[in-house]
This record gives sequence, C-alpha cells and structure tokens, in this order.
Amino acid sequence: MRTLALSVLVARALPLASAFYLPGAAPTNYREGERVEVFVNTLTPMLMESDDPKLKSLINYDYYNPMFHFCEPNDGQKAQPESLGSILFGDRLFNSPYDIKMLKDNGTCKTLCAVPDVRGDEAKFINDRIKEDYALNWLVDGLPAAEMKIDTRNDDLFFDMGFNLGNNDGQFQNLPALNNHYDIILRYHNPSPDTYRVVGVLVWPSSIGGPQTDEPNCDYENAEPLLLNEDGTQAVRYTYRVTWNESDTPWATRWDNYLHIFDPRIHWFSLINSIIIVIFLCVMVGMILLRSVSRDISRYNAIDISEDVQEDWGWKLVHGEVFRTPRNPMFLSIMVGNGAQLIAMVGITLVFALLGFLSPSNRGSLATVMMVCWSFFGCIGGYISSRVYASLGGANKRKNAFLTATVFPTAIFIIIFILNFFLITAGSSGAVPFGTMLLIILLWFGISAPLSAVGAYFGTKHGMIRHPVRVNPIPRQIPPGPKYLRPWVAAILSGILPFGAAFVELYFVLSSLFASRAYYAFGFLALTASVVALTAATVTILFTYFCLCAEEYRWHWRAFLTGGGSAFWLLAYGLFYWFSRMSLDSFSSLFLYMGYLFLLALMDFLVTGTIGFLASYWAVRRLYSSIRID
Ligand SMILES: *[C@@H]1O[C@H](CO)[C@@H](O)[C@H](O)[C@H]1NC(C)=O
Ligand SMILES: *[C@@H]1O[C@H](CO)[C@@H](O)[C@H](O)[C@H]1NC(C)=O
Repeated sequence: MRTLALSVLVARALPLASAFYLPGAAPTNYREGERVEVFVNTLTPMLMESDDPKLKSLINYDYYNPMFHFCEPNDGQKAQPESLGSILFGDRLFNSPYDIKMLKDNGTCKTLCAVPDVRGDEAKFINDRIKEDYALNWLVDGLPAAEMKIDTRNDDLFFDMGFNLGNNDGQFQNLPALNNHYDIILRYHNPSPDTYRVVGVLVWPSSIGGPQTDEPNCDYENAEPLLLNEDGTQAVRYTYRVTWNESDTPWATRWDNYLHIFDPRIHWFSLINSIIIVIFLCVMVGMILLRSVSRDISRYNAIDISEDVQEDWGWKLVHGEVFRTPRNPMFLSIMVGNGAQLIAMVGITLVFALLGFLSPSNRGSLATVMMVCWSFFGCIGGYISSRVYASLGGANKRKNAFLTATVFPTAIFIIIFILNFFLITAGSSGAVPFGTMLLIILLWFGISAPLSAVGAYFGTKHGMIRHPVRVNPIPRQIPPGPKYLRPWVAAILSGILPFGAAFVELYFVLSSLFASRAYYAFGFLALTASVVALTAATVTILFTYFCLCAEEYRWHWRAFLTGGGSAFWLLAYGLFYWFSRMSLDSFSSLFLYMGYLFLLALMDFLVTGTIGFLASYWAVRRLYSSIRID
C-alpha cells in the first residue's frame, strides 16, 4: 500500500503528492544479531530551533576531515557509491566503526575510540563549527539519523534530520561543548518471526567531560560537559549506547515521521494566493483581448470593406513591421532554445516527482533525473532554437546550432567552476569531485550536444514559421511611447505577477536548497509551476499587445525580458532571504550563496522568458492573421 506521508488533509486533496516510494523498492530484512551498518555523511550547517532561526554557513565538511578527529574504522574509511545527483547535492557517504547488531547489546555503554591528541588549532576549528550550528548526518539502512522534536504549533512529534555536533547555548562560560556521546535509539518492526526491519533512527547527542580514558562512561546526566581547550592538546573519547525499541510502524510508512509539514495551511495559502492571481489575470486578459481585440478586428475589417480612405490606427498600423528581424536574432534564438530545453527538463522532473519517484528516501534522485533529462532534451533545445532563428530571419544556421549547444552550458560550467574553487579553498567537501565533473562533461558532450545538433538538423529542415503579413521594405518611425512600456520597466512590472504567484513556495524551495531541509510538497510545487508559466505567458501577451498599440513594433526582445521579469524579483527575494534568514560570517559562504542565487535566477529568466516569448509569438501571429491587409 502506498503511504500517506503528507498530513491527512493534504493527502486527501492532493493524492498524487503522497506517493513517496520508488515503486518496487524492497525493505532490508535483518535477522537477530545481523550487523546494521551506520554510514556517515557530510557535516552540514543546520537551522536551529529558535524565534529567529538563521543559517550561519553554507559549507559542508567531510565526516573524516582530519580536523574533526572522528573515529575511523580499523581497516580505514571507504567511500560508498552514490548517484550523480547525490554527489552534486553534496552527499559524501563513508562507512563507520559503529558496531551495531540487530537486537544485541541493548543499552550497553561502549567506547567507540579515544582520540589522544586534539591540538589547539583543531579544537578551535571544531568550536567554530559548533558555533555555526553544524550537524552530523548519519544513514542507517537508508534512514537519516534524526532528533525527535515537537512542532510547537500542534504538538506533533516529528523527526528532524541530523543532530548537533555540539552545544552552543552559552551555559558553560560561553564556550561550546562538543557532543562526544551518542544515545542511539533504533526502532525496529517485527513483521514475521526472526525478521526485523529498521523503521526509525533517533540520536540524542550529549557531552561528557571528565577524564577521557578508554573506560566507557555514558552517564551524561551527571557529567560535566566536554569543553575543548584551544591552546593545548587534549584527548576526546567518543562513546555510544544503542537501545532497541520495538515499534508498530511498518516499513512502508517509516518515512512519515521525517516528512513533517510544519504548517500545511501555508502551502494552501500559497496555492490560493496563486489562484487568485491567475483569476485576476484571466479576467483582465479576457476583457482586453476578447473585447478590445475583437472590436479592433471587426472595425479594421469593416473599414476595408467600405473602402473608406481612412487612416489605419492602433496595432494594425505596424503590420508591416511586426515580423521585422529583431536586433541580434542569433542570441535571442539561443536563449529561447536553451529555455525550451530547461522547460522540458522542469516539466518532466515534476511529472516524475508527482509519480513518487523522487522521494527523499531515494537520495539524490531529483538531481539525477534533472541532469539526465536536461541532457536528453538537448534535441528540443536545438530544434526550437534553429526554427526560431530561421523565423527571425537569421541566415547562419550552422553557427546557431553550434552556439545553442555550447554557450549556455559553458556559462553554467564556468560559474560552477568558480564556486568549486571557493569550496576547495574553504576546505569544504561540497566541491564537485573531478570524476563527477568528467561525468557531467561526458553527459554534455556525449549526449546533450549531439542531440542538440540532431534537433537543429530537423529544425532547419522544417524551416521558418510562415508569417501572416509581409514586412515593409522601409522601417516605420516609432513614436515615443509611455514610460511603463520601456523594456526594463515592463520587465520589472510584469515580473510581479508570476513571482507573486510563487513566492511562498519559493521560501520552502530556498530553505530546502540552502538549509538542507527535505522538500517533498511536489504536488504544490507542480501546481505553482503551472500557475507561474500561465501567468508569465498571459502577462507577456498583454504587454506585447500594449506595445503594438503604442506602435512600438520591436516586441521580440521585450517579450523575452517581460516574461523573464520574475527573475529580478527572485534575485531581490534571494537577497531578502539572505538578509533575514542567514548570518554568513565567511566570505566564501556569502560568495557561494550569491553564486547559487545567480544561477537560480538565470534559469528562471531563461525559462519564463522563453515562455513569454513563445506565447507572444503565438499571439502576434494569431492577431495579424485575423485582419485583412490590402
Ligand atoms: C531495550 O531496553 C529498553 C529499556 O532500556 C526496553 O524498553 C526495550 O524493550 C529493550 N529492547 C529489547 C529488544 O530488549
Ligand atoms: C520506546 O518506545 C516507547 C513507545 O513507543 C517510548 O515510550 C519509550 O520512551 C521508547 N524508549 C526509548 C529508550 O526511547
């Protein structure tokens, strides 16, 4: 049976959003005494519970970063295989020395290892990370280790992924305390005799000071905290205690505790907000397009029939200009082509997400699917770009095909390369490893670029789109238009609506990207994305219509800019998010945030700009095929 992981309310209304398991994923069955392995992931900064939670860093560190001195397995650390998407999103899994056997050693206090020599500079490094609220991330049988918390809004218990590296609430002479003891509570389900399944992993970390000898000591209630001395060498002992606790949660619903929606009402609020914007727009467009345009058309055609020598007016005046080649058709068609490739990628990824393939239990699948989709949709990019280019009157088709396949990916690659450089200098494990870089280049050159060329070939074969009116040989003079139709003003003005339809959902997306919160409200996300697409298209058509009425016929670039206007708002919102939700001390973190934000805005610009451009193209063709020109 499929699980209902969202709250009942949401699940009922959006049944598609509740399927979270990769169909066919099988549970791991353990026998009593069988080893249950703990995998350790990178340390990530965490949003702490408080009135004003702020993220203090964006840099991940490897668990076995030598500065931390965590206990290593006797036969050395081994990296675990991971999907492309997990690696890109910063997962680095290693094995660990925890000796855990199903149902064995219940409540036994054990020493993991005692590290004899944590130097002063390393202690300072660890203390700094504790002050930045870093959290440890473990995986046990695919489940993240979590801390149990209470949602203060409705007193629900939920599992918050990750647990604190240390304790920095300032109660010990303003020094942070390192958590060197972990109480691990493993919840198991017993579906049939001698079959046990892990259905919950909770960790209560605590700090136990005193002599750090090999003797295990798990009495954290009566212990002094362990404060690291920043100007001397000292020993640190790590201890752990496993408690097996039977649970009646079946394996199929074990993720439900993790996928806690804090306030489902806020998603609904966002959706209703978007729907109101769409209705408002539809009414406006309906009024303008249906009333004015059909009135215009019947009047134009009536004038023609009566053969009155009357002056033309309004948008009919520019019929000889609307399909005039815009400035720089090459660049415009490349942007539209790449935008179309991204649109296809986003669309298919959302479909996969809705079908339940991209759950958080299937680590990194979202990013993997996005990368693979993007590569294969190179053909769409090449096709659209070459047809748009031909329709805009461009002649250099080969150059267009080549640039479509290369310009945008190169730009992205350069940005990622620079960000990577910063990650490496900051000693972070988040830098994309060389092998992954090669794989991405392979996806690009091996799949995306050739498919783009194939698409361009077919696009060229199908040729330009036929236009309903001819272009006059001599360009018309453009009268000065109203201020709000200037390209940048129009872009900023029109961007408000698509952005307004999305900004609540955007908050969750940003939190999941930067504060490593799991995102799984894909039903809401898909609806919001469709609303944004619809809004961008209608707003752009409106602005294009206003432009043509003002006898401003250079609509091509304006349509792209107007459609992409939400990107400016996205940038502004990103800055606001940084201002209100983050306090990044290091320059590297700040630079990284700005870099990711810029990438996000760039993609948004291409996607919504392309939607605006294609919608306007369609509308302009419809508009001018409905009037009779002598
Ligand atoms: C382990 O110990 C806890 C209490 O310390 C107890 O509640 C639990 O049932 C025990 N589990 C097993 C499998 O014995
Ligand atoms: C085991 O589970 C029960 C209820 O399911 C809970 O009351 C108890 O505190 C748990 N034990 C531990 C050690 O967490």
